Amino acid sequence: MNNQLTDSLGREFPYIRLSLTDICNFSCSYCLPDGYQCESNKEFLSIKEIKNLITAFAELGVWKIRLTGGEPTIRKDFLSIIKTIKSIQGIRQIAMTTNGYKLKQRVKSWVSAGLTHLNISVDSLDPKLFHSLTGHNRLQEILEGINLAQQLPIKRIKLNAVLLKNVNSHQFHQYETLLKNNRISMRFIELMQTGDNQKYFDQYHVPANELKTHLLSNGWTEKLKEVGSGPAIEYIHPDYNGSFGVIAPYAKDFCDSCNRLRVSSTGDFHLCLFGEHGFSVRHLLQSENQKAELKQTLCQLLGRKRKQHFLHDGNSGGTPNLASVGG
Ligand code: 5AD
Ligand code: SF4
Repeated sequence: MNNQLTDSLGREFPYIRLSLTDICNFSCSYCLPDGYQCESNKEFLSIKEIKNLITAFAELGVWKIRLTGGEPTIRKDFLSIIKTIKSIQGIRQIAMTTNGYKLKQRVKSWVSAGLTHLNISVDSLDPKLFHSLTGHNRLQEILEGINLAQQLPIKRIKLNAVLLKNVNSHQFHQYETLLKNNRISMRFIELMQTGDNQKYFDQYHVPANELKTHLLSNGWTEKLKEVGSGPAIEYIHPDYNGSFGVIAPYAKDFCDSCNRLRVSSTGDFHLCLFGEHGFSVRHLLQSENQKAELKQTLCQLLGRKRKQHFLHDGNSGGTPNLASVGG
């Protein structure tokens, strides 16, 4: 289908990241170091609202949805949400990003419900370090979940790690061992500055170039980007089944390949992770009859999308941490 979500720079947006909740049970040191703080009793989008939202996006040309949070699986109706989205015409991919909590117990049911792509955060393969980074001593259980997921008819499994100076930035070989025989993509994300993590950022940010240099000098080669593949750069190696991916938001031209838009768990449409604020469209999600107005509003709002973020100037917009908008 023709993608009607194209911005003034010619970027197309086939991909929506939908946050289902901003609650998270982990306390990752770079995101929610003190754990989730409940400020007010928020009402997250209902299944009906999600259905109206995604139906409108699908009619505008969106075919991929990623469910994020916070931790999306905290929602009791998570399975029904997957099923509902799967039933929407035009949606070909349903992905999710999870901290891996409940992965082992539930991944089978998610895949049966329609999940096609899975991202799991694994910031270290050292159990002690994993524990201290996330607040949970669950690495072993999560790795077992990943093993199980590999046996299911799932299209692609990616692991995410935030690159942290002198924490996991010298542990690439541990990931290489994992990628030897597993068809997994291991993605390192350069630490991003958010409203809440300034001091942490100054201490732990390390440019992704160090990782790139390591990969290139160890036989990994950069894979040519496929059209519409988004901002990650992939590295492959003839002796490995898995691949590395590097997401370097501070790299020049990073935003040129932006292919994603976000909707928060309370129905705010975000044009950029680091924009000032979102635009609420929740009032247009209440009835199927509002679909035409919703579609028109989404297209109009897209007209305001800017060329790039202003992270280089130390401006992370209105995002206190990634759990609040959906990472
Ligand atoms: N910088 C980079 N990545 C982050 N994530 C959360 N906060 C940050 C940050 N400040 C990542 C998580 C997860 C994904 C949802 O976003 O590790 O992999
Ligand atoms: Fe939770 Fe993800 Fe933030 Fe970790 S990075 S605290 S798992 S939302």
